Amino acid sequence: MRKNYSNISAFNKKNLIKTINLLNKKNVVGLPTETVYGVGGSAYSKNSVEKIFKLKQRPKSNPLIIHYYNINDAMDDVFINKNFLKLYKKFCPGPITFILKKKINSKIHPLSSAKLPTIAVRFPKHKIIRSVLKKLNFPLAMPSANKSTKVSPVSAKDVFDEFNKKIPLIIDGGISKVGIESTVIDLTSYPKILRPGRIHQNLIEQILKFRLRKNTSGKILRSPGMMKKHYSPGIPVLINQKKHDGKSAFIYMGYKYKNKKKFFSLSENYNLDEAASNLYKTFRLIRNKGYKKIQISKIPNIGTGIAINDRIQRASVS
Ligand code: TXA
Ligand code: MG
Repeated sequence: MRKNYSNISAFNKKNLIKTINLLNKKNVVGLPTETVYGVGGSAYSKNSVEKIFKLKQRPKSNPLIIHYYNINDAMDDVFINKNFLKLYKKFCPGPITFILKKKINSKIHPLSSAKLPTIAVRFPKHKIIRSVLKKLNFPLAMPSANKSTKVSPVSAKDVFDEFNKKIPLIIDGGISKVGIESTVIDLTSYPKILRPGRIHQNLIEQILKFRLRKNTSGKILRSPGMMKKHYSPGIPVLINQKKHDGKSAFIYMGYKYKNKKKFFSLSENYNLDEAASNLYKTFRLIRNKGYKKIQISKIPNIGTGIAINDRIQRASVS
């Protein structure tokens, strides 16, 4: 069946105005960022935030990330600190989210941050989301534009596949370059990474000039509401696979099985950033081809590989 993508629009002046009008009227819009696509609404509005939770079928205990144009805007809502300033200067705008203490007079609707005394603050880099944020008088609560526990979207069509016509507008900003969600780092006390991402521990340590706490258990400290099962492509995923079973889609690094059916390389030259950017795209491609199962070979657990392993590990929880 051919799909009618009529709520997907190109980015131009007219559609920027349409986006701003919808957001001002407490509606939600599908928007591109450099990490993944989000579904955004006013973080000040109960109505908008409720729409987002409902659309995603997301538990109310799982707080949303609040997106800002710059640090000045964020200072209305959170207390900043030295570690934040160092990381902000180096990485923002960019694919990193900071957990900071909420100011008592902040207008962020409590529902957006699951009534926590903290707020997740992000300054996305994609030029479309930046031009939207610049024109708004409020920050955007914006989770990834997928149903809860499913794979995040990296294109406008992916967003459509999640929500169809349930959102009035999806702005097409091309493929998300980073391809996995932002790094989430808690800066309310001794810094700790809650969700690994493209801006990985080593890069952060180089800027802060001290070591982050080791995750000796090998487990990532979880954000509240961060479920064990997540990023699920809807078919079983097996990780650390050595041998192809002959039927499943097989995801690997390198070029050993180039042009072989059923084999999908995340990066032919073993680049982990490229692999991350191809991960969700490959999950969706495999599912759309009708495979019943995904096998994934071992991915090096260094740099961005840590984020890939986090995602595929949770995708494999049945
Ligand atoms: O790259 C991204 O961050 C994308 C794009 C759209 O910006 N957004 C995204 O949002 O991934 P979402 O809602 O899918 O993930 C938000 C994560 C969750 O794991 C949540 O638990 C955590 O951020 N989080 C939000 N507020 C928090 C808080 N106050 N304390 C700790 N974790 C928080
Ligand atoms: Mg998400």
